[in-house]
Amino acid sequence: MRPLVGTSTKMNLTSTEAAVWMDRILGLTADIDDVDLFVLPPFTSTWVARDRLSGSRWAWGAQDVHPDDAGAHTGAVSAPMLADLGCRFVECGHSERRRDYAEDDTLIARKVAAIVRAGMTPILCVGESTQGEADAAASFVAGQVAADLALLSPDAASRVVIAYEPVWAIGVGAQPADPAHVEAVHAAIRAQAAALADDPSGIRVIYGGSVDPVKAPGILARPGIDGLFVGRSALDPANFAAIAHAASAGAGRTA
Ligand code: PGA
Repeated sequence: MRPLVGTSTKMNLTSTEAAVWMDRILGLTADIDDVDLFVLPPFTSTWVARDRLSGSRWAWGAQDVHPDDAGAHTGAVSAPMLADLGCRFVECGHSERRRDYAEDDTLIARKVAAIVRAGMTPILCVGESTQGEADAAASFVAGQVAADLALLSPDAASRVVIAYEPVWAIGVGAQPADPAHVEAVHAAIRAQAAALADDPSGIRVIYGGSVDPVKAPGILARPGIDGLFVGRSALDPANFAAIAHAASAGAGRTA
């Protein structure tokens, strides 16, 4: 399985700034051919991603989606609209949306299903709220995985990306989770997702939460870590490129 490394720029970068970021990142990662790379800009820059990244090794996607395919939902964006713009990945279940918009597992499961219906790959974010023992975190996130993938067929469940993002490890002032903690929770996520899938070998479990160029190699060195989901550090393209190169150097790790 090739490593998967990407970023959501969250509510950052105008379309003009996103174009500059993409042009730089293309140059800085041009030598990487053994890592799958993606960016999830705000909806307003989906067209920029298509414009700049078409024909490159980069995939693009979105940070959210409405669970319905069309209809009277003012301000919302549907999965078919995103697929039509070439999106390959759509994020759902991020803790900022669970927190800011009270998104629960029932809604997230419907979003996951909508993404799959439109032929795209969900990047499902799960993670415990407070720092504690790996065992407790593992059983909590396994419950999220079961609930959030509940509407998928075993075939569709075989192709999801799950991002383990401990809430306490996200954002300014936070530190990434300890690699041993990540390894333990990833194993539980994989086991839970595998139980819902008919071919678990296609499931990728990636880590997000204060990933930076210094911490990335230590996390990637652990078994069962299929890639990284980078937040604020990636707003500087040089940082993202360094993280992507760390994954490239680690290609051939046993997952
Ligand atoms: P962060 O964000 O790297 O800025 O902590 C990670 C995320 O929310 O995916």
